[in-house]
Amino acid sequence: MLLDRASGATYCRGVALEFVLDTPTVRAFVTDALAAIAASASPEQACEAIKPRFAQLLADPDWLPDEYRAAAPGSGMGGGIGQWLLCRDDDGSLSLFSLVVPPGTQTPVHDHLAWGLVGLYRGTQDEEVYARRDGRLDLVERRSLEPGDFYVLIPPRDDIHRVRTTSADASVSIHLLTNDTGCVWRHAYDPASGEARPFRSGYVNVACRDE
Ligand SMILES: [Fe+2]
Repeated sequence: MLLDRASGATYCRGVALEFVLDTPTVRAFVTDALAAIAASASPEQACEAIKPRFAQLLADPDWLPDEYRAAAPGSGMGGGIGQWLLCRDDDGSLSLFSLVVPPGTQTPVHDHLAWGLVGLYRGTQDEEVYARRDGRLDLVERRSLEPGDFYVLIPPRDDIHRVRTTSADASVSIHLLTNDTGCVWRHAYDPASGEARPFRSGYVNVACRDE
């Protein structure tokens, strides 16, 4: 990994990285994830290769500072839901972020439009997964998540969901996705009608590059 002191960017495998949370743990995880992606022939293979490191990250109680576990009144997700960027690359093909959902709060039904890994770090969640068929949304799965639980997300399968915090404290999930998730225009859905509307969540702590 090389640091360009002029721009502040870190280069890893030719990729310029912006570390918002710049710690050895985050650097090592992202470096290993990029290596796995580069060595893999498919998203499925890359996710399989990243799984052990992702499980380690979720099991490590110390690496995520309190500020990245905090709710965020007035956030783009609504309901005080905080989406905190930890690291991203400069071409919109990787982001690592935490998503903090206050107790009793749920996200809108939304999609991600990128493959990667999503796991629960703190608290508990109920998740509803939807499939879009003929313009309507069908609820296809309900699952409960506990800290350490994670799943591989490869759209379109499982890409549309809603999560609700069921713990007394906020839930904190960790996302490693292959887009700049907070800054891409994706979709929020009305679960009753299936109607989609353009949706950009933003990050609480970092502006999108076109802002
Ligand atoms: Fe999500």
